[in-house]
Amino acid sequence: MTGGFGRAVQSAIFRDGATGRKPTVPTSWPPLEAGAKRAMSREAWAYVAGSSGAESTTAANRQALDRWRIVPRVLRDVGTRDLSVELFGQRFPSPLLAAPVGVLGLVHPDADTGVARAAARLGVPYIFSTQASVPMEQTAAAMGGAPWWYQLYWSTSDDLVESLVGRAEDAGASAIVVTLDTHMLGWRPRDLDLGYLPFAHGLGIAQYTSDPVFRRLVAGRAKASAERPRITPSTIRTLVDMTRNHPGRFFDNLRSPLPRASVDTFLEVFSRSTLTWSDLAFLRERTSLPIVLKGIQHPDDAGRAVEEGVDGIIVSNHAGRQVDGALGSLDALPPIVERVAGAIPVLFDSGVRSGTDMFVALALGATAVCVGRAYTYGLAIAGSTGVYESLRNIIAEFDIVLGLAGLDSASSIDRNAVARD
Ligand SMILES: Cc1cc2nc3c(=O)[nH]c(=O)nc-3n(C[C@H](O)[C@H](O)[C@H](O)COP(=O)(O)O)c2cc1C
Repeated sequence: MTGGFGRAVQSAIFRDGATGRKPTVPTSWPPLEAGAKRAMSREAWAYVAGSSGAESTTAANRQALDRWRIVPRVLRDVGTRDLSVELFGQRFPSPLLAAPVGVLGLVHPDADTGVARAAARLGVPYIFSTQASVPMEQTAAAMGGAPWWYQLYWSTSDDLVESLVGRAEDAGASAIVVTLDTHMLGWRPRDLDLGYLPFAHGLGIAQYTSDPVFRRLVAGRAKASAERPRITPSTIRTLVDMTRNHPGRFFDNLRSPLPRASVDTFLEVFSRSTLTWSDLAFLRERTSLPIVLKGIQHPDDAGRAVEEGVDGIIVSNHAGRQVDGALGSLDALPPIVERVAGAIPVLFDSGVRSGTDMFVALALGATAVCVGRAYTYGLAIAGSTGVYESLRNIIAEFDIVLGLAGLDSASSIDRNAVARD
């Protein structure tokens, strides 16, 4: 994106306004969040907006970003601005990526393919989740050749890991992101108090139910299991959900043990708490794609990632959904950037809501920034159009802030552009 992307978006919004059309998605956070809450079911809102424990890490993510202020410069020619960034040999139009977000089918029927269409229109790389609602091959088709990465949760079955990574490579992924902070789900009171986990209803397991290795595991389990659940109105509802969410025809699924066996198998193989640095060699042997580690918060882990030959890292605390009482993700960034010393790209996420937040993260050394809840709220409000507008608005604001700060390229943002409050 070169030149006046921000102004073009602004002008289009005002032109539409003159004919009585308002933006579909609010352009600032509180109304975006409020609109998303109204659009979602109680369970969906708890899952998407909820974080772990007292949600103090989510608050710390915001506090960390809010402590930095931009210091604008004047009388510089910023008439043409270059927002582009290079990652792993590919140039992208702006330093914004769509983070992997699971179970988007709970939020809106457009789900992952809706995000894909919106991201592709903007040239925003989309990181597909292992907990997606749509198989990666279908979402890849919706990207129409635009770049995407695949996020891996490292299953307890190495065969499944190999299969998922192989499928991603075959379907056209250009990097593998291994998420390390979620080998168990965080303690999330909003979900716990509703007793609701989407996966237990067969939601967000499409990468698994479309996988040949997973299906073999399920077939073995379905044969072995004679156990029947206690029948209550809730069990019936859950079984109907599982049946509806399973691939294939509802009435065929109704007679099949596979929907329930799939959920049970998923809960067993989801992720591995015994994973260590030495396991990365397994992945390296099975893919030639760049490997990016997501969930890094300590400079020693960042340093180790460089030593192990990893291609990139994402400084992230999973939007505060994993460890309550953890440091704000932006506070983790500067010492990590210092330790990595330019050896590999350092991406950043957790708490980013606006173009201003992007600017601050880049000023503290991030190569690029990911957003999760921001586009998920857009999806809730208006499906794929909502995702498009929410991502577009962040990039447009970033462009305008960049110019008004007196800089003409994303790559020229540095520590001098911000001051600590
Ligand atoms: C509802 C929800 C589901 C998520 N699912 C995944 C996932 O499947 N895989 C993953 O690596 N991260 C997942 N994340 C974390 C995001 O990738 C990202 O790190 C985080 O959302 C960034 O913070 P932000 O939402 O404040 O932008 C999820 C986050 C949310 C809010």
